[in-house]
Amino acid sequence: MAPSTTCPSSPAVYSAPSSPLDTKHPHLILRPATIPERHHTWVINSPSWRGILTENAYYLREAHLSAQDLTRNGGITYWVLVDPSTACDPSCPQSPDHILSACEAIRKPSIIVRKNGEIEDVISYGIGGVYTASPHRGKGYARTMMQLLGHQLRTLPDPSDPKKAHLRVGFSVLYSDIGKDFYKKVGWRPHDSSHISFPAQLPSSAPSAAQAVKKIAKADLKAMCAADCIHIRRVASKTAFKQGVEARCVQLPTVEVIDWHHAREEFVGQYATTKAPTVKGAWAPIAQGAEFPPKAGSEGLDAVWVIWMHDFATNKLIFLRLHVPPVTSANIDAVQSAMKALMVAAVEEALAWGFKELISWNPDDVTEEAVKSVFGKESYNLVHRENDSIASLMWYDHGEEIEPEGVEWLVNEKSGWC
Ligand SMILES: CC(C)(COP(=O)(O)OP(=O)(O)OC[C@H]1O[C@@H](n2cnc3c(N)ncnc32)[C@H](O)[C@@H]1OP(=O)(O)O)[C@@H](O)C(=O)NCCC(=O)NCCS
Repeated sequence: MAPSTTCPSSPAVYSAPSSPLDTKHPHLILRPATIPERHHTWVINSPSWRGILTENAYYLREAHLSAQDLTRNGGITYWVLVDPSTACDPSCPQSPDHILSACEAIRKPSIIVRKNGEIEDVISYGIGGVYTASPHRGKGYARTMMQLLGHQLRTLPDPSDPKKAHLRVGFSVLYSDIGKDFYKKVGWRPHDSSHISFPAQLPSSAPSAAQAVKKIAKADLKAMCAADCIHIRRVASKTAFKQGVEARCVQLPTVEVIDWHHAREEFVGQYATTKAPTVKGAWAPIAQGAEFPPKAGSEGLDAVWVIWMHDFATNKLIFLRLHVPPVTSANIDAVQSAMKALMVAAVEEALAWGFKELISWNPDDVTEEAVKSVFGKESYNLVHRENDSIASLMWYDHGEEIEPEGVEWLVNEKSGWC
């Protein structure tokens, strides 16, 4: 066996899990990638994921996404599965063969809510970029990597913020593009993965977007996300649990999370059209005197809003987050007409970019009704995804008696995707 060699700037090798995992390759280790290794992985996986970008532009986009508020200072970790006995060539950029499989995990502010309404702030991880280079495929490397990762993330400390060092890791999520089975077998349980799509076409019967609708700009997002997160905390802790639900989990759509999506759309928009989108969503009041953007400390109960992203690879406008206050007999008419105005505003934004379609993940009843009412039932398409973007969750119970089936994932919208 060749002596182990360490790349320059190689991070510490994480110790093996305390209880041995039943992996196909017990001698392999998972560790954070060195900077050259991180770049290899972009070179290796670019054919699958660069989309409309050139290889170089893809590389620049990934570097840009690693330097956002959400991801900088250890917010994102790039992981590689390697054989510790294989020499890691210091000229790594030219010889990435020692990387058997790779992925990344982004730390997200999250909460877990118990049946008694108690809220626990936790960290969760969003996993993406799971990749095995073609010559290494079919040998069980991705499976081994995910087994090790699921275990490792459970206890990963927060390296960036000493004030949050006490937060435990509550769960991790990923969005499978290879169906439901592969990740389920290694512990990520598939959850609701539906969306509605509707065409970027305004029927003649559509209401005009009311004067009162406001376009959301980047500068408004901090206040809107803060209000939305206060609202989500209250709804998650104060509304009754469905039978069989023992705990709820939420990845909070904070401004850092939303900005990360917008960093992506702006980069690709600039590349594809030489323009970066400036309209980030739409807001509509449901009560007199509703303030835009919401005041500090407010929950935004007097308005509905949608925050979206422009997907230049598919030419679709995708809703990242829909904020809808609880509907009561007192506000139902106002909510419905404000929601219709939002949908019209969204279609107008899609048309301005020449997009053909709009998408909303796991919409609530109010959104579905608004879409049906504006565009007609025949234009409305509900899709239960079976192969791509399957929202999957691993629950870290830390000794609690909660089965994964008893966990309800709230705000399972596109804002959580990574
Ligand atoms: C998917 C991928 C990571 C698997 O890597 P790997 O190291 O070959 O995986 P393993 O050898 O550990 O496991 C192979 C399993 O993956 C399954 N798999 C691979 N590609 C698949 C696909 N497109 N759809 C469904 N299952 C797939 C195989 O059927 C096999 O399942 P089995 O063990 O039950 O027979 C690799 O094929 C890859 O990088 N593909 C391109 C990028 C991609 O799609 N990544 C996943 C994003 S969610």
